Formats: sequence, structure tokens, C-alpha cells
Amino acid sequence: MNELVTVSRQDTVAVITVNNPPVNALSPGVPEGMAASVEAAEKDGSVRAIVLIGGGKTFIAGADIKELEDAASGRGSGGPHLHGLLARIEDCSKPVIMAIHGTALGGGLEVAMAGHYRVASPDAQVGQPEVNLGIIPGAEGTQRLPRLAGIAAAVDLCVSGRLIRASEARDLGLLDRIIEGDLLAGAVAFAREAATRGGPHPKTRERSDKLGSAQTNAPIFAAGKEQARKTRRNMTAPLRAVEAIEAAATLPFEEGCRKEREIVRGCLASDQCRALIHAFFAERAVSKIPDVPKETPAAAMRQAAIIGAGTMGGGIAMALANAGISVVLKDTDQAALDRGLATIRKNYEGSVKKGRFSQAVMDQRMALIRPQLSYDGLESADLIIEAVFENMALKKQIFAQLDRIAKPACVLASNTSTLDIDQIAASTSRPHMVIGLHFFSPAHVMRLLEIVRGKATGKEVIATAMALAKTLRKVGVLVGNCWGFVGNRMMLPYMREAQFLVEEGATPQQVDQALYDWGMAMGIFAVDDMGGIDVQWRVRQEHGEEPGLRRPLVLDQLYDMGRLGQKTGAGWYRYDENRKAIPDPEIAALIENTAREAGIRRRTIGNDEIIERCIYIMINEGARILEEGHALRASDIDTVYLAGYGFPAYRGGPMWYADTVGLDKIYRRIEQFHREHGEQWKPAPLLKRLAEAGGTFASLDESRKESVAVH
Ligand code: NAI
Repeated sequence: MNELVTVSRQDTVAVITVNNPPVNALSPGVPEGMAASVEAAEKDGSVRAIVLIGGGKTFIAGADIKELEDAASGRGSGGPHLHGLLARIEDCSKPVIMAIHGTALGGGLEVAMAGHYRVASPDAQVGQPEVNLGIIPGAEGTQRLPRLAGIAAAVDLCVSGRLIRASEARDLGLLDRIIEGDLLAGAVAFAREAATRGGPHPKTRERSDKLGSAQTNAPIFAAGKEQARKTRRNMTAPLRAVEAIEAAATLPFEEGCRKEREIVRGCLASDQCRALIHAFFAERAVSKIPDVPKETPAAAMRQAAIIGAGTMGGGIAMALANAGISVVLKDTDQAALDRGLATIRKNYEGSVKKGRFSQAVMDQRMALIRPQLSYDGLESADLIIEAVFENMALKKQIFAQLDRIAKPACVLASNTSTLDIDQIAASTSRPHMVIGLHFFSPAHVMRLLEIVRGKATGKEVIATAMALAKTLRKVGVLVGNCWGFVGNRMMLPYMREAQFLVEEGATPQQVDQALYDWGMAMGIFAVDDMGGIDVQWRVRQEHGEEPGLRRPLVLDQLYDMGRLGQKTGAGWYRYDENRKAIPDPEIAALIENTAREAGIRRRTIGNDEIIERCIYIMINEGARILEEGHALRASDIDTVYLAGYGFPAYRGGPMWYADTVGLDKIYRRIEQFHREHGEQWKPAPLLKRLAEAGGTFASLDESRKESVAVH
């Protein structure tokens, strides 16, 4: 009907194929093409049944998110309007069979549910993941899904946004048949059977047998809202999805659809939706590096080695083995090596127990990891990642040694969290092969990978690191070589400001609760205790104190007391045997005494001030990082914080959040804090300029699209 939708014939069955690669999104032209194809097939007397299928690797995987973005920012037509298409399909007098492979997501599943029948390949997946973008299913999905799968399943799928496999979808009533082997052939056979059986063919919207009663539904809705509040803290869309499903249970179909549309409009106009769409595109933008074009060749990574089998070395070994890369895990200390391997085994056993993968998969992965004390075999490695103690002299010594052993094409990476990559590279004869690969703990779980570009790092090495991140299913963000790179550099002032707040009168638990309620995954003192007070203490020792800057007074005392955090059972909090944090009166007294001795006036501190001081100080540092060229885009900083630091996605990341508050407002507050609290609040010049010009970080990104380089 147009090149996006084509029609072919298998004798009396019309086969409508959607061809909009890569994921057959519902871009302009696709719904129109489908509607016209169905109409033509219905009119064609020689057609008895219709099969709708996706070309390429998937069925329709959802809406075109660019269109959603336009709708959320008040541009465009408000996204695809599928009502006409869905009615055309459902009202077709000939049976319409949806043939699903790959994924049928969002609008894709909504189209499928308007068909009279659905068949799928065994490995197909379906879902309504709209909540991840701050909206609800907006093409009658909240009305048809409960009619097909029941109220409880609809609530679960719309609140969680999770994908389900074909077998589960069949058990729920979403699919009529799973087709082993050739999907199209199976779908055509199904279509012939349906045509032979004759109509009327079931219209989803006319069904009510699964809609339950007020009594049976009330607890399901209550549980759904509870699930939303717990798993999607502070988010509006999942709660509103439940509301839309409530409408399905209580109102006639058309009225339910009206209610759904009204809710979608509200969601689209929300800050949360805009922030989540920003986060979606920000994560995809990280791979655009102006001076390292897409065509830059990336080397294949088959064999890797890791130096240091500690916390990070072990986690990185798992991340690599999980992607099928073989790893030599080298340490100097047999006991450390044994401990490292035991931890890996324990982690894998845990996953097998939870059913994440089979024992056979675990055995395969374990077999890929070879622990050893020597450097044997490292000469054939494509990649060596150093993860020894955070000590420059030691790292230099190791890189000098690797330089002697590794083949010329081997990428030499350091997992350092703060140290200078150029200095490390200078201890080799090939600084162009040296790069930072900053993993986050636990390295086999956390999605973020900061890729640190040294002065001499080669473009192919950067391309290789970016490709490796993809292979490991991580989000690789290219950052510059400055102290702490992007993530930790912004984290340090944040941690310190939180400590100043408690010196001035707040408690660690008040600060943590305020941050948690605001949306952070964890409070900052809990983060301190998890990472280890000694780690922070060591960072301070290496980094030193900048003259003229206020110093936190309590952390060093915790270190001296041996309160190193969770690992010693006490830090800012005490920990019970289940690692539950318990506020400790001893800490409250320590803070009070320390503040009194230092002559700090204590006062009641409100939660708003806590949030402003913790978040704005990060934003100010982020602006400095941007100005210095240590991040390519403000949106890259957002991605670092969303993928690695537990920043709430519905706030879009620190820089996006700053835009939503208004840079002018933030700048004025920072100026005020500067007057009241000292030099750590010196406003970043870029922030000042943008605030005075009425700009945003997003507009800055837009204006610098092709012209920036990270260094
Ligand atoms: P760790 O103390 O758990 O492990 C270090 C390991 O290196 C030990 O097993 C030690 O025996 C081994 N080692 C020491 N000298 C060696 C040598 N010459 N050759 C081979 N192995 C040697 O330390 P962790 O926490 O794993 O940190 C490693 C690196 O990763 C550091 O640079 C750290 O800054 C960085 N990092 C740490 C994170 C964390 O959360 N722990 C997060 C991101 C980076």
C-alpha cells in the first residue's frame, strides 16, 4: 500500500507485511498503510482471511518515540492516532490474524489485540512498557488488555512494564496459538482454519468475561497501586495506568477509551514524561562522538585478562565471561585469587538458584575464567584491564610490565576511579593503546561504564571500548581525564555537602530520607557506608584538601574509630545482621560535639534545603565539567547519573533537572549558598552565562551538536 506496508497473497489469504526497519515502529505512514491494506483486502472478494506480520526481525515494537517526544513538547499531532486503524481491523468481516515474532510492544501489542486472533513464535515477547516513558498505553491497550488477559494481568503488565514470553502470553489468553517452525506458514494455516470455521470472529472490545466484579477487582487495584508506589516510587504514570484499567472494568468500551485518552494527554504534558523521553534519547546519544565517527574500526575482543582479583576484578571477569569473552584473572596473592574466585562462584550459584540461568550456563561461564598468579598467556590477550589497588606507583609499575608482554594491538585499560590516565599511559611505550574503563560496583550488574579518554588514546581504541560496552550490555559514556572523571567528580562535593548539613543540624537519617523521598535510589550516607568509609578516606588522602575550602569534620573520626561502614557493621549508621541501617545515638552525639567544638551554629534544617544543597552542588560541578570539555554533552552527564548513580530517571538526570527548575533560579540559589556557606559554592562560569542568557543545558547541547570534543 506504500513502501512501509506491503501486501502479498497466499491463495485466499492476504498477507500484510510491515516494513519499517529496524523495529517496525508505528511511524507516520505505517498505521495508514495498514488501514488501507485491511480495507482493500476486505473489499477483495477473493480474499477469505488476513494475516498481519512484521518484516525483518520483529513484529511492531512500538510507537515512534520521536513522535512521542514531539507530542510531549507540544509539537506535532500528539502521536499516532490509532483509533481508526484499530476499529478497521476489529470490524473487518474477514478474520484478521496477527502473527508475532520478535517483540510486540506498546502500540505493537495494542494493534495485535485489535486482531481477531493472535499467533506467535515460541521466542516472541509482548508487553506494555509505556510506563518507562512516563505514559500509559494510549491506543486502547488499557481497555483491550484486561478483556483478553484479565484485570490482574493487565494491572501487572501496565505497572511493571515487563515483557512476557509467548508461553506466558498464551496462558494469559493473549495468544491463541504458538507456532513452532515457520511463523508465516503457521499463521496462514491458522487463517484458513478460521475462514473455514466462519464468523463471527471474536472482537476483543466486545468481550467482558474477564473483567471481574467490583468485589474481586478492588483488592487487585489496591495491590496494583501498592506495587506502583513501591517499584515506581514517585511516578505518576503507573498509578494512572491502574486508573485506566479501572475504567475498563466499570465503563463501556468507548467511554473507557475516552478516559484512557484523557489520562494519556495528562501524562504527555508532564515533566516526568519529558524527562523519561530525554533519558531515552540521552542514552542513545552517548555513542555519537564527533571526532570518532561510526565507521571507526573496532577491534574484536575475544580474549581478555584482568590484573587484580579483588572486588572489581572479580566483577569485571563475570561481566566479560557473561558476554562469552574468555578471561585470565591474575593476582599476586593466592589467597586473594581464591577469595576472588569463590565470590564469583557464589554469585553465579545465587543466579542459578534464582533461576536466572541454568547450571550448564554457569559451568560455561566459570570455564571461561582462568585464575592464575603468572603473566602466562597474556601475550595473546586483546584486552587487559588493570584493577589493582588505587595507587599510582603500583599502577605505573603494572602498565610498564604489561607493555613488555602484551601484543601491539592489545588495548590496555585501567579501572581506576580517580587517577590520571595520562600518567598511567606514560609508563608504557604505547600511550595511544591506553584507556580508562571505569566499571561500577558490582561490575557484573551496574550498567554504567565510564570510558576515559587520555590525551594520546587512539580513536580506534575508543571505538573498541564503545563497542565493548555494547557487547557487555552496558552504557559506555566517553569522559575526559580529570580527577574523578564525571561521576565521582560530581559525587564528591555532594557527599561533602551532605556532611556539612549534618554538622549544621540535620541528621544522617534526615538527609538520607529526604534524598530517598526525592527519588534517589539510596541516601548518600547509606552510599558512604556501602562503599566503605575507608575508601572515601583514602580518596581524601590521595586527593588532598584544596586550600580555602571548608573541610568535613566527622568522616576522619569515623575512620579512626574503625567505623568503616557496612563491612565493619557500623559507619554513619549501625547495621544489624541483615544489613539494615539503624540510626546510632553515638553518631548523633559525635556530630553534635564536633560541631560545638568547631563553633558551628546548629539549627533546624528543612528538607528543601537538603535537596537544594545536595543536588545543586552536583549541577554546579557538572557545569564545570561541561565547560572544561570533560563531557561531550550535558545529556551524557545525565546518562552517567541515571545508569550509575541511582538518580531518578523521571527527573531526567541532574542537568535535565536543572533545566526544569530553571537555570536562573538555580544560579541565584547557588550565589546565595556561596555567600552563606563558602567557596565550595563558587558558581560555575558556564552556569552563570546560561542563566543570564535564559539558556538551558539542553539548548547548549543542541547548539554544540557537531563541534565539541571530549578531552
Ligand atoms: P580490591 O582491594 O578489592 O582488589 C585489588 C586486588 O588487586 C587485590 O586482590 C590485590 O591482591 C590485587 N593486587 C594488588 N597488587 C597486585 C599486582 N601487582 N598484581 C596483581 N594483582 C594485584 O580493590 P577494588 O575495590 O577491586 O579496586 C580496584 C580498582 O578499581 C581500584 O583502582 C579502584 O579505585 C577501582 N574501582 C573500585 C570501585 C569499588 O567500588 N570498589 C569502583 C570502581 C573502580
